[in-house]
Amino acid sequence: MLINALVYVLHLLCAVIWVGGMFFAWMILRPAAVDMLQAPARLGLWSDVLPRFFRWVWLAVLVLPITGFGMLHLRQQGIETAPQYIQVMIGLYLVMLSLFLRIQLLLLPGLKQAVASEDWPQGGAVLGKIRRLVGINLLIGMLLVSLAGSRLTF
Ligand code: HEM
Repeated sequence: MLINALVYVLHLLCAVIWVGGMFFAWMILRPAAVDMLQAPARLGLWSDVLPRFFRWVWLAVLVLPITGFGMLHLRQQGIETAPQYIQVMIGLYLVMLSLFLRIQLLLLPGLKQAVASEDWPQGGAVLGKIRRLVGINLLIGMLLVSLAGSRLTF
């Protein structure tokens, strides 16, 4: 059915945007920024790049559970009767969400403030924490996609 395909594609696209965006930020943009830019320019870059990326992450964070539970609803399945890999997906989603909220609500304001007041050591310290949490979320996201794709059960 068209509605099933649409919901499924939206779910996949949101997973690609979130996990793929973190991969690009961590593996490509971060080392290039370290090589090319001094601390003030680098911190300024991230305080501009992260809010732009996070607008899309907010979209993914909302659309993933809506489409995920939508698919379960269309299949007339509840969480308890869903396959194990879907239960794991929901659990890992909650972990990824809490790490994202920590970065967005607690760390990003500190980075913006450090850049505005040109406090580069403080900005570097906050950026280091953000980098670590994004790295963890990237690993969890890749694990989640691997489990979902292979439909692994334990
Ligand atoms: C509350 C959150 C979520 C729910 C309820 C949910 C639910 C589902 C459901 C019902 C499917 C269809 C599985 C099937 O066809 O048997 C699915 C597939 C998938 N989900 Fe999620 N999901 C959630 C979060 C996520 C997140 C956070 C990601 C990745 C960032 C993700 C990535 C995927 C992928 C890649 C598939 C395709 C698996 C495949 O068919 O090969 N999901 N999800």
